[in-house]
Amino acid sequence: MDGNIRIFNTTEDLAGALANDLEELIGIKEKKNSVTIAVSGGRTPESVFPVLAGKYSGQLNWPQVNIFWVDERCVSPDDRESNYGMAKKLLLDRIPIPSQNIHRIRGEEEPLKEAERYSAEIRALTRARNGFPYFDMILLGLGEDGHTASIFPGSEHLFTSGSLCSVASHPLTGQKRITLTGEVINNAGMVIFIVTGKKKAEIVSEIINEGQGSNKFPASHVKPVEGKLAWYLDEAAGSMLENKSGRGEHNRF
Ligand code: 6PG
Repeated sequence: MDGNIRIFNTTEDLAGALANDLEELIGIKEKKNSVTIAVSGGRTPESVFPVLAGKYSGQLNWPQVNIFWVDERCVSPDDRESNYGMAKKLLLDRIPIPSQNIHRIRGEEEPLKEAERYSAEIRALTRARNGFPYFDMILLGLGEDGHTASIFPGSEHLFTSGSLCSVASHPLTGQKRITLTGEVINNAGMVIFIVTGKKKAEIVSEIINEGQGSNKFPASHVKPVEGKLAWYLDEAAGSMLENKSGRGEHNRF
């Protein structure tokens, strides 16, 4: 899998690189239109968001940023499982971003209806490219089972479904989720996988090195059509990577 692989010594360095990417995007789009980014949930952002909000907040022109979600658990926003709730506490409440720039998935609503509503909101607030909404940046996580967003193994059809959002169920817990589809993800200007921790080392190397059968992992189908793909890893998550093919340089920071 092509893509710029960056391995960071610390979460702080990783968050710093993210802030620089955002700043660059904001700079490019200054005065023309806002930057649209979609963020993921799960545990990994819990260590990155506070650094982004703390150390790097002043560096970024947040009123220029519109934030969306890659996926959400079908729970209320104050539930400890809520991706929005986590981002609100660890990032949004700590940065000068106008409330009208925050476009959350309403996990408390009826899932199918909300998937439709969110699709309409995305269509209305983003520009289109290749017939699909265009996000400037999408931040993805990676599950040990190879899922990303809430596209779980066996749901690869969500990369060719033609819809913008879909309702999914967590394979182990049955928890209902609302997720962006693969087409929207692959239509973005920049897709960054943020992956940390030893537990993820094997799945990271399987997907990046395109191991035998790795296409059973939904994350292996993340191939931006025209955009850039990058992997931001900590040492532990990148510990099994071998630069066999010479493709995708492994920069250490
Ligand atoms: C979610 C996510 C999901 C997440 C991965 C990795 O709602 O859970 O958006 O795709 O990114 O499951 O989760 P961790 O960061 O907790 O390992």
